[in-house]
Amino acid sequence: MKAKFPEDFVWGTAISAFQTEMGVSKEADFAGTDWYQWTHSPEIIENHLVSGDLPEKGVGFWDLYEEDMKRAKELGTNAIRLSIEWGRIFPESTEAIEAKVGRNRGGDVVAVGVGEEGFGALSKTANWDVVEHYRKMLAYAKSLGLKVFLTANHFALPSWLHDPVACHKDMEKSSRKGWVDEKTVIEFGKYADFAGRVFSESVDVWETINEPDVIATQGYVLGSSGFPPGLEDPLLAFRVERNLALAHNVGYTNIKKHFGAKPVGIGIAPNVFFPVDDDPRSRKAAEFATYMSAEWILNALMYGCFDNDFDMMTDERAEGISGSDYIGIDYYQRIRVRYSENVSVAGALNMEMLPCVDCTDFGWDIYPEGIRAVSNWMFNRYRVPIYILENGIADAKDEKRARFTRDHLRALADAINVDGVPIRGYFHWSLMDNFEWANGYSMRFGLYSVDYETKRREKRKSAELFEKVCKTGELDYESDEETGKVPAEKPH
Ligand code: BGC
Repeated sequence: MKAKFPEDFVWGTAISAFQTEMGVSKEADFAGTDWYQWTHSPEIIENHLVSGDLPEKGVGFWDLYEEDMKRAKELGTNAIRLSIEWGRIFPESTEAIEAKVGRNRGGDVVAVGVGEEGFGALSKTANWDVVEHYRKMLAYAKSLGLKVFLTANHFALPSWLHDPVACHKDMEKSSRKGWVDEKTVIEFGKYADFAGRVFSESVDVWETINEPDVIATQGYVLGSSGFPPGLEDPLLAFRVERNLALAHNVGYTNIKKHFGAKPVGIGIAPNVFFPVDDDPRSRKAAEFATYMSAEWILNALMYGCFDNDFDMMTDERAEGISGSDYIGIDYYQRIRVRYSENVSVAGALNMEMLPCVDCTDFGWDIYPEGIRAVSNWMFNRYRVPIYILENGIADAKDEKRARFTRDHLRALADAINVDGVPIRGYFHWSLMDNFEWANGYSMRFGLYSVDYETKRREKRKSAELFEKVCKTGELDYESDEETGKVPAEKPH
């Protein structure tokens, strides 16, 4: 059997700046981000919050981008998704640069106006060698015929905005609180305006922020996840989510000013929580976790609807919210849960998460139908086009990647062809192995494997399947059954 994808479908691979840039030349080393500080902190390493692997031992995309982009092209893809590092572009604080901050009646920051004067001042502060390097990188991708999907912020914050180790020890005392502090929203607005001006020429689709939901949950709810600042404080997490929704909003407006009608959007990781028993409390927990993983923040940034007491109802309608031209979905796994009196997630939710059934190296549960379910869920709820901005598997031995990719693409084809969801593209995470945040180099997601000593890349066998689909727009599969019914509008 064959599944067909639309003619103009976007096929790509995805990487991010912090995870890939360092590793070859000295100029590529950059210490001015919160993630750099976090992964180097002896105390954080000793507490096993991070692996001890260091980002500067990485794959060296900063220097090797031409050959890596050629690899992406050889795979038959027509697009590449990458990010730029805010802290590299602005290694010094931009706080003293004036901008017109607009607030709505509720007091939220909903506009950060950077006029010509502001741009002049930002230009003086920016590191132009870095700007030129990124411009060359993006222009090179275009010269290969690759569409460029550019993310303004993929997790790492400039050190002048966030000291994750100090926040980990004592949030109150730290003067650099990252997304907890509203000033990060304002600075993001300035950065986005600048980036929109200087990079848009070579960009086809902008993404403001990668996975605000993950930043908030991993950093401020699941304290031992290894994400900075490693706290368990749901109330702080909501402050962070609110600020991230507002940051997307000002970023969206400021990039749009320089990007015209082309799409600017957000990417999130809607988690698929499934209750494993018939206990209504399990169902409720799964429903709440699912809602929190995506709808809380999307309701805020699409419609300005804030649910301040977490009862899944809107309490406040904020003005001045522009929305998003598309929703980017990063889909990896399903999470099986059940109600448990003895387990509590950050003191807020009595829910036990069960081990995987069909496991990746990360212990994530492979569930291809989930990509169809979340695509339906996101489109039915928000009615904007969908891009799958990430989907992939940690599989060092490359035993499951081909099957994983085939089954997910097949479910995706059903979402498009059977359910009619306007899914415009699919990006495999990742082009090559890279620095997997708190887990360092042990988790290998690449279609190309990397030898971290020699920096040699080698195409994995499983890449052949993806290549064939990208080149033909068709997927061969064995049976003629559908991948399964869409479980529900929402996956719980
Ligand atoms: C992130 C990537 C990460 C991937 C696999 C996503 O949440 O955007 O940076 O490498 O998941 O963990």
